[in-house]
Amino acid sequence: MAAPFKNIAITGANGSVGKVVLKALLDAGNFNITVLRRNNSSSTFPDSVKVVDVDFDSVDSLTAALAGQDVVVSTVGSEGLNNEQKKLVDAAVAAGVKRFLPSEYGCDLSNELAAKLPVFAHKIEVEKYLEEKAKTTPLTYTYVYSGPFLDWGLQYDFIFKSTGSKPDLYDGGDTAFSTSTLETVAQAVVAILSKPEETKNRAVRFQSVVTTQNQLLKLAKEIEPERVWQPQAVKLDDITRVADERLAKGLYDIQTFAPYILRAVNDSRYSPTFKNLDNELLGLKQLTEAELKEIVKASLNN
Ligand SMILES: NC(=O)c1ccc[n+]([C@@H]2O[C@H](COP(=O)([O-])OP(=O)(O)OC[C@H]3O[C@@H](n4cnc5c(N)ncnc54)[C@H](OP(=O)(O)O)[C@@H]3O)[C@@H](O)[C@H]2O)c1
Repeated sequence: MAAPFKNIAITGANGSVGKVVLKALLDAGNFNITVLRRNNSSSTFPDSVKVVDVDFDSVDSLTAALAGQDVVVSTVGSEGLNNEQKKLVDAAVAAGVKRFLPSEYGCDLSNELAAKLPVFAHKIEVEKYLEEKAKTTPLTYTYVYSGPFLDWGLQYDFIFKSTGSKPDLYDGGDTAFSTSTLETVAQAVVAILSKPEETKNRAVRFQSVVTTQNQLLKLAKEIEPERVWQPQAVKLDDITRVADERLAKGLYDIQTFAPYILRAVNDSRYSPTFKNLDNELLGLKQLTEAELKEIVKASLNN
């Protein structure tokens, strides 16, 4: 059995995902963690965390920072998804890093339709880059496919609009999709690092639960029957058509990209319900309906 990884470098560790992953890695207690922070970053970390400031444009700077590391866990946000991550991969190869987890944490990009969505172009490019490196160097990779975040997605009105009383229901709201809490994502990362062989050069897929927008609406109605819920029917074709038009105008922002993610989550042709789950391998429990209801309740109270 391959020894678990020990020396872990994490980038983007102050972001929505990075913060939770960093805490889980620290709490696990068996890793030596180094945070790679951009030179000009305003991110702050507790004094107990080892932080190295790096120039993400310089492979040399990144290579020096990665000396002695076994793993790079990338949780960089959208702006760092392409060039910065490719440079990080080059640096990981140069420094002799064994495993690279690119910043994924979402849809199953092995689905051919999902892989063609413009919003995922940079992630796909990095995946291809890693796969090439894995053929010719000792670097290996793991892709973390969690589905859309459950707690985060409710908090930010993404998978279901929990503020107000007019949630959008995409194409009827009955498409089942895998979704994970941020804590499940973080626990998955910890488990991957403890199982190097089983998670080598492949995607892991897991979920906290499978749900639908209509199930979330049903739970919301049970929790707050006094709110006059008026769901709004929205066609995915309509919102992605607008996104296509924005893209053609060169508008690369969240307004353009969000509809494509909503398509991947709410259209069954995009494999939003994961098959061949790795929950058991990674020791990740799934939520009961009562636990799901508690998470919905917390989002309604926000
Ligand atoms: N499944 C879902 O529902 C879902 C939701 C949100 C995000 N995600 C995914 O999760 C991943 C992380 O997203 P996030 O929202 O957590 O990120 P974020 O909060 O926007 O950013 C995370 C960190 O990335 C670093 N960063 C920003 N620009 C960079 C650049 N140009 N080069 C290098 N580093 C840069 C910064 O760290 P420093 O300043 O410390 O260097 C920043 O704090 C992404 O792949 C995203 O697509 C998935």
